[in-house]
Amino acid sequence: MLNVALSFTPESFDFIYLDPPFFTGKEQVGTKENLRYQDSWDNDIDVYISWLEERIRVLKPLLKKTATFVLHLDRHAVHYAKVMMDSVFGREFFRNEIIWHYTGGGRSKSHFSRKHDNLLCYSLSDKPYFNLDAIRVPYKKTSGYAKSGIRAKSGKLYLPHPDGTPLDDVWSIPIVNPMSAERTGYPTQKPLLLLERLIAAYTPEKGFVGDFCCGSGTTLAAAEKLGRRWFGCDISEEAVASSRKRLGLID
Ligand SMILES: C[S@@+](CC[C@H](N)C(=O)[O-])C[C@H]1O[C@@H](n2cnc3c(N)ncnc32)[C@H](O)[C@@H]1O
Repeated sequence: MLNVALSFTPESFDFIYLDPPFFTGKEQVGTKENLRYQDSWDNDIDVYISWLEERIRVLKPLLKKTATFVLHLDRHAVHYAKVMMDSVFGREFFRNEIIWHYTGGGRSKSHFSRKHDNLLCYSLSDKPYFNLDAIRVPYKKTSGYAKSGIRAKSGKLYLPHPDGTPLDDVWSIPIVNPMSAERTGYPTQKPLLLLERLIAAYTPEKGFVGDFCCGSGTTLAAAEKLGRRWFGCDISEEAVASSRKRLGLID
């Protein structure tokens, strides 16, 4: 990743998404034997965070001033990573922690089931590109506001938006389940809808999207679908082959 990143011109990307190993302490294995990646760090969080920080510091200069960087993690290390990200980008440039709440999978009996990931979103300026209208979702069927709008005390009538309501920072999206048409067999593959939302909100038309831990190529497929330019790489040859196949670049 580091050598590849260093070959880019500074300020090239509108959006970089990084979905690295999560510090789970175990190898992640997909549904096909050759699709796997290492996530063991001898249980040393300092080694892991240093590894991550080194890469993020190299990627940051590749972002345009209007760009956003999203680091996708979960409970294993997000609390350490948030502090590190504040130091790399500046606390004032923290934009959101998007909670991806997923349905599906098993349920625990010994604690509340862990059903969310954390996406730390940082910008480089006070005015990053952000298009909330691009990802509105339908109003709830029970919403009175959606039916007839709301009249304020002043008498002003607020009518519902034809494209629905703006998203907040908790997104419920099902995991890529074994029956899902988008499933590639790659371990910890993320849903296309998650990446479509991020890219639609954070990049202009024909914007440039980067994913330096691309795995099965979800980010690249979403960018392609939305007409954005993209770049992806991964340390694993199988991941790159999987992405190329998904994008129709090889049979
Ligand atoms: C969580 S997975 C990415 C999954 C991907 N977002 C998807 O939807 O399929 C993490 C990826 O990081 C890759 N990786 C680990 N270390 C890396 C490194 N030093 N440089 C680039 N990629 C790396 C792994 O091979 C793995 O594919």
